[in-house]
Amino acid sequence: MRILTLILCLLLLLVFHVMVIARIVRRFIKVPCPHQFVRLIENPVRRVLFGPEKVLNRAGILPGMRILELGPGGGFLTVEVANIVGEQGIVCCIDIQPEMIKTLRKKAKKLGLEERILEVVGDASYLPYPDRSFDIAYMVAVLGEIPEQRRAIREIWRMLKNGGTLSITEILPDPDYSLPRTVRRLCEGMGFKHVSTRGNLFCYTSNFIKGD
Ligand SMILES: C[S@@+](CC[C@H](N)C(=O)[O-])C[C@H]1O[C@@H](n2cnc3c(N)ncnc32)[C@H](O)[C@@H]1O
Repeated sequence: MRILTLILCLLLLLVFHVMVIARIVRRFIKVPCPHQFVRLIENPVRRVLFGPEKVLNRAGILPGMRILELGPGGGFLTVEVANIVGEQGIVCCIDIQPEMIKTLRKKAKKLGLEERILEVVGDASYLPYPDRSFDIAYMVAVLGEIPEQRRAIREIWRMLKNGGTLSITEILPDPDYSLPRTVRRLCEGMGFKHVSTRGNLFCYTSNFIKGD
């Protein structure tokens, strides 16, 4: 029992150190989370602790809505969103890595959701969608990876309908994790109104509304 506890403590210490080093490195080098990490990101522990249902409940997604997901990765949350919006809704996804989009496309096809999930390779700071075309835009563990964050938030403002929601979720131990107050400052600075922050420091979701 003692040895097990010791191994667990050592493992936690190792994870902590890796995260600190990764965080320092990523302050200087901003690159997207490597697509080879998809399996690591979609691990069972995450599914139990911060699963899609928990996170999406906070975002207020409803049947029939038009949703935009920024940085979907392999689609850990996308499939669930597609199920919630149903046949009348749509989930548009934009990810900067073609490999992530390929994985997501494969998953959508396998589940027969390819008509509801529309993926595109692109940068969240240069959105290829018309003005006021979405009810909700959300991103999970993505904001810190975007080099032009202010531009991305401005773009989201442009393509959200009036009264639309921007929902940002941050999760530890993501090395690009941003604190709630940092996210709030950024979004309010771009004109969004803060509505709520739910969860805890390990996994929180902040919702913002686009006013007139
Ligand atoms: C840590 S992963 C999170 C994936 C997914 N949201 C999840 O929670 O499982 C971050 C994702 O954001 C994407 N990404 C990073 N920078 C981006 C940008 N500027 N525009 C669009 N996607 C970006 C990465 O390619 C990657 O798929």
